[in-house]
Amino acid sequence: MHVTGASSGIGEACVARFVAEGATVIGSDVAEPEAGFAGVSFVQCDVRDAGGQQQVVEQIMADHGQLDVLVTAAGVASGGPVHSLDLEEWQRCQDINLTGTMLSAKYALGPMIAQKSGSIITIASVEGLEGCEGGSSYNAAKGGVVLLTKNLANDYGVVGIRANCICPGFIKTPMFHSVVDQMPWADEIRKQHKLRRFGESSEVAGAAFFLASDDSSFVTGISLPVDGGYTAGHAYGLAEMWT
Ligand SMILES: NC(=O)c1ccc[n+]([C@@H]2O[C@H](COP(=O)([O-])OP(=O)(O)OC[C@H]3O[C@@H](n4cnc5c(N)ncnc54)[C@H](O)[C@@H]3O)[C@@H](O)[C@H]2O)c1
Repeated sequence: MHVTGASSGIGEACVARFVAEGATVIGSDVAEPEAGFAGVSFVQCDVRDAGGQQQVVEQIMADHGQLDVLVTAAGVASGGPVHSLDLEEWQRCQDINLTGTMLSAKYALGPMIAQKSGSIITIASVEGLEGCEGGSSYNAAKGGVVLLTKNLANDYGVVGIRANCICPGFIKTPMFHSVVDQMPWADEIRKQHKLRRFGESSEVAGAAFFLASDDSSFVTGISLPVDGGYTAGHAYGLAEMWT
C-alpha cells in the first residue's frame, strides 16, 4: 500500500496502523520522517510532482508487483477571508490538497485497473462537508476532494475499485497545533465536537484501516466523518445543563 503525507500526523498514524496489521507499506512525503519507520520503505516525493508520483508507483510495482491500497494524507492548512486572500496561497492550497490527491489517485489507478481491485482512501476534512469562517481555500480544496472521491467510485466501481473519503474533525497532529494553538477560540471549536474533545490521529487511521479491509467490501463513494460529532449539528451548551 502507499500512504502519502506519511512523515507526520494522520499519514504517520496510518503507516503505523497498517504495519501493525501486517501490510507492506510504502510511505511518501515531501519531508523526511523525523523518527523513521521500521520496515517501511520511504520515498521523498512532492504530491504536486506528477513525474515523481508516477515514479513512486512504478517503483512499488517493480518491488512488490501490486498496489492494493492508497491513502492520500498529504495536505496543508490554509485559508483566510477571500477579499484579502493571496492568489499564490490559494493556488498552493489547491495544488497540494486537491491536485495532489488527484495525481496520487491517477497513478495508483493504473495497477489497480489491471488488478481489477483496489481501495483508494482520500483524506478530506469536515471542512470539505460544510463551510466555516475563514475556511475559503481549504474548504474549497477539501470539498473538491470529497466530490473527486465520489467520482472515482462512480468511474472505477465497474472494475472492482472502491474509493472512499475520510472527513476528520480537528485531530491533534503537528498541523493542528500549528493552527489551533494560535486560536483564542480553540475551546469553542473543541465544544463543537459533540464528544467535547479533539481527535487522535490513530482514530483516523482506524477508519482508514476499515476502508482498506474486506470489512468494507460493499462500501464505496462515501464521505465518512471521523469527527466526534462535529458535523452532527450545532452545540449551544444545552447538553451540559442536563448531564
Ligand atoms: N489535523 C486535523 O485536524 C485535520 C483535520 C481534517 C483534515 N486533515 C487533513 O489530514 C491530512 C493530514 O494532516 P495532518 O493533520 O496529519 O497534518 P501534518 O502536517 O501533521 O501532516 C501532513 C503531511 O503532509 C506532508 N505534505 C505537505 N505538503 C506536501 C506535498 N506537497 N507533498 C507531499 N507531502 C506533503 C507534510 O510534510 C506532512 O508530513 C491533511 O490532508 C489535512 O488537511 C487534518
